[in-house]
Amino acid sequence: MNYAIETAPLESLQYDCLIVGVYQDQHLSASAKLVNDSTKGLINKIVDRGDINGKNGETLLVNAIPDNSIERILLVGLGENKPLSRKNYRKSLLATINTLKKTNIKSILCCLTDCEVIDANQQWKSRQIIEVFNDAIYQFTAYKSNKEVNSKIEKIGIFCPETDLNSTQSGLTQGRAIADGMNLTKLLSDLPGNICTPTYLAEQALELGEKYPSIDISILEENDMEKLNMGALLSVSRGSRQPAKLITLNYQGGKKSDRPIVLIGKGLTFDAGGISLKQAPGMDEMKYDMCGGATVLGVFLAAAQMQLPLNIVGLIPSSENMPDGDANKPGDILTSMSGKTIEVLNTDAEGRLLLCDTLTYAERFNPDVVIDMATLTGACLVALGRVPSGLLGNNDTLCNDLLTAGEISNDSLWRLPLWEEYQEQLKSNFADLANVGGKDAGTITAACFLSQFAENFHWAHLDIAGTAWRTGTNKGATGRPVPLLCQYLINRAHG
Ligand code: BES
Ligand code: MN
Ligand code: ZN
Repeated sequence: MNYAIETAPLESLQYDCLIVGVYQDQHLSASAKLVNDSTKGLINKIVDRGDINGKNGETLLVNAIPDNSIERILLVGLGENKPLSRKNYRKSLLATINTLKKTNIKSILCCLTDCEVIDANQQWKSRQIIEVFNDAIYQFTAYKSNKEVNSKIEKIGIFCPETDLNSTQSGLTQGRAIADGMNLTKLLSDLPGNICTPTYLAEQALELGEKYPSIDISILEENDMEKLNMGALLSVSRGSRQPAKLITLNYQGGKKSDRPIVLIGKGLTFDAGGISLKQAPGMDEMKYDMCGGATVLGVFLAAAQMQLPLNIVGLIPSSENMPDGDANKPGDILTSMSGKTIEVLNTDAEGRLLLCDTLTYAERFNPDVVIDMATLTGACLVALGRVPSGLLGNNDTLCNDLLTAGEISNDSLWRLPLWEEYQEQLKSNFADLANVGGKDAGTITAACFLSQFAENFHWAHLDIAGTAWRTGTNKGATGRPVPLLCQYLINRAHG
């Protein structure tokens, strides 16, 4: 994709299509007025006819403009003539790109930077344009013989007045980085389990490290993990023929003495459930059980592209969860790296077994904060659906920072309690703790389990089981929570 920022007079710009906003009751945005003037009142004429009444999400493509250098105009409804909410702004952007991606149009100039949005500046708006457009254009066609692309768009321009050039430029830089990060995350997530194995993920991480010299990669193999006594993690991979990997990413953008932000992503490249085998319907979607890990890779790409002045460590424990002859059995007792023993009551609660050893491992980086993201519990879907990710943690400042970042990035979170009363549910008759806490409050007891390995640092857990991918006819990865984490990192860098 090519990008440009344009400040020159609209009618002098060479684009296949100009995108301008109209409000309800025939009010035109500033750029719509400019276009109206240079087309002898064409927009007013169209609006007067009632062919578009300006409701948010409406669009109308005007695809021939007689005697004019402007090729096409897309009118986009913005709703009432007042500042838009951030959500409605994104809604109008989505309507825009969904209309344009079906056409043969190659270059588009978005003038929707001129409408006012509540609690948002020029930088935020231009960033959203890039993010929303790129997200909608993404397609996973790697394994289609007939790779018909649904979008011909090659160039996105953003129109802004000269005075807004700097903030628009930084919005574009951030938007591109986040969009590229989301693309990587979505691509890896959509890949099937027979291609995207732990080894493949590790190779992708190494490639990322080669592309961005500011990112160092190292891979722990199973024998390295044995030396570290990662008994919980290794017990899961014993049930599979694919060797586990613990991928470590190190981005040093800050001062040597700055304590790192540690990001941990669950990397189950396929979760069949193990001996506690899952049911057949929908099991294909368990290729998405590595979305947390793919998120870490996407965030590192974005952080490196933005050259954030932070130190960030990424940890991706990656394995399959399969029912091989040597797999975990219900009742098995494991010794984790921390020394705590775990009774496996359900082999399908494998994510926490990988994460607990990774949390213990994270201590050696002397972290400022640790954030993990994991497609951890089906219960999160029951509690929160597919709108926010679940948030749980042991530090209010960190949780509040994440909630704020979620709001700004429109990649929302909802906090659930992590009260000690719930820890009761994890009691085991035979070991220090059980790996499942019964049928009540499954998302919370999963986080309770993790919290017992996160006692020595500030920690937050994102349960992304409902948000990392879409199900049904529109099945596919969403790239969440890349925007949220990038926003958190941007805020940390500028705070
Ligand atoms: N990866 C799954 C969680 C999951 C299931 C995410 C469905 C999205 C959709 C996880 O490993 C798992 O199987 N969790 C179990 C835990 C249970 C055994 C306590 C679950 O949610 O059923
Ligand atoms: Mn599972
Ligand atoms: Zn899983």
